[in-house]
Amino acid sequence: MRVLVTGGAGYIGSHTLLELMAQGHEVCVLDNYSNATPEVLNRVRSLSNGKVTDFEGDVRDSAKLDDVMQAFAPDAVIHFAGLKAVGESAQKPLYYYDVNITGTLTLLKAMERANCRRLIFSSSATVYGEPQYLPCDEAHPTNPVSVYGRTKLMAEQILTDWTAANPDCAAVLLRYFNPVGAHPSADLGEDPRDIPNNLMPFIAQVAVGKRDQLEVFGDDYDTPDGTGLRDYIHVVDLARAHVAALDYAAQNSGARPFNIGTGQNYSVREMVASFEAASAKPIPTKQSTRLEGDFAAMQADARRANAELGWHATHNLSDMAASTWAWQSKNPDGYRSDD
Ligand code: NAD
Ligand code: UFG
Repeated sequence: MRVLVTGGAGYIGSHTLLELMAQGHEVCVLDNYSNATPEVLNRVRSLSNGKVTDFEGDVRDSAKLDDVMQAFAPDAVIHFAGLKAVGESAQKPLYYYDVNITGTLTLLKAMERANCRRLIFSSSATVYGEPQYLPCDEAHPTNPVSVYGRTKLMAEQILTDWTAANPDCAAVLLRYFNPVGAHPSADLGEDPRDIPNNLMPFIAQVAVGKRDQLEVFGDDYDTPDGTGLRDYIHVVDLARAHVAALDYAAQNSGARPFNIGTGQNYSVREMVASFEAASAKPIPTKQSTRLEGDFAAMQADARRANAELGWHATHNLSDMAASTWAWQSKNPDGYRSDD
C-alpha cells in the first residue's frame, strides 16, 4: 500500500516507517518538525535503503495536505502527528485542541477530497483514566483526566462518526500503553527536547550522566513494592502493530479500538533495576511523593489485538532496557549528537 505517515519523523513514526518498508509498503511523511528533526528521516533512509518521500508541513494546513494527497495518492494514512505532553496540555489547552483536533479534522477532510478511506490513529491508554479493573480491555469506560487525554478521546469519537457516515471507510484506533525502547541499530530512539516527561527516557539520561538522579513519585501505592505499575511496550512491537492495523483496515470498515500493550506490568523499581542491569550503571534515586493525578497500576488486556490483528508483542523488559541504553549511549545528545 501507499501509506502517508503524518508525524513520521517522531519517535513512534520513525520506527513504524522501517516496519512498513520491510513489509513492502511505500511511505511518505508529512511532519512540521515541531518535535523532530529531518535527520531522523536520513537515518531511516540509510537503515532501509528505501525511498522516503517527505513533505515539511502542518497537518492543520489544508492546501499543503491537498498537495501531498495529489503528489502521493495514498491508499491509507497513519496519523501520528500531534502533541503529547500531559502537563503542557493543561497550560496550553487551546493549542492542544487545535493541533490534535483541528489537525485530525483537517486531515480527514483532505482524505475525503482525495478519496482516501483508511486511517490508523495514534490513541492512548490515557483515554481510560484511572482504571476501574485490570487488565483493562477496550470495553472499560473512558474517562480521561487530562486535556491531552480528552483530545485523544474526542479524535476517536470524530473518527467513529466519520466511519458511521461513510460505511466504506475504516479507522483503526490504536490505544498505546507505555511505549519505550529503541531500534536494534541504536540509530533511532526517543529524543526528548526538554526534561523527559516519562520514566524510561529519564532513567536513560541519568544512566548516561545527563541528570543526577531519578525522582520516584510515590512509594505508598497498593502495589508489591509501593511504586507505580505500568504496561511498557517496545516501540518495535508497537510499530509492527501499525502494519497489522493496515492489513486489518484493508479488509474491514468501521471504527474499532485496540489496546496495544504486552499484558504485563512492571514497577518503577523494576524498571530501574532492569536499566541498571542493561547499562551496568547505577541509577541514583530520590523518593518523592505521589504526583497529582497519578495512579497505582495500569495493564492492557491486548487479546483483541492478538485475535483480530494477529499481532503479538515479542520483546521483553530486558530488550526494552538494553535497546534504550544502546541508543542513549550511542547518541548521548539524541539526534544532535553528530552536530
Ligand atoms: P513525537 O512527538 O516523537 O512525534 C510526533 C511527530 O509529529 C513529531 O515528529 C512532530 O514534529 C510531529 N508534529 C507535531 N505536530 C505536528 C503538526 N501540527 N503537523 C505536522 N507534524 C506535527 O511523539 P510520539 O511519541 O512518536 O507519538 C506519536 C503519536 O502517538 C502522538 O499522537 C502521541 O499523542 C501518540 N501517543 C504517544 C505515546 C507515547 O508515550 N509516546 C503514548 C500514547 C499515544
Ligand atoms: N515516574 C517516576 N519518576 C519520573 C517519571 C515517572 O517515578 O521521573 C513514575 C510514574 O509515577 C509512573 C511511572 O513512572 O508510576 C510511569 O510514568 P510515565 O510518565 O512514564 O507514564 P504514565 O503511565 O504516567 O504516563 C503515560 C503517558 C501519558 C499518558 C499516561 C496515562 O506518558 O501520555 O500514560 O495513560 F497520559
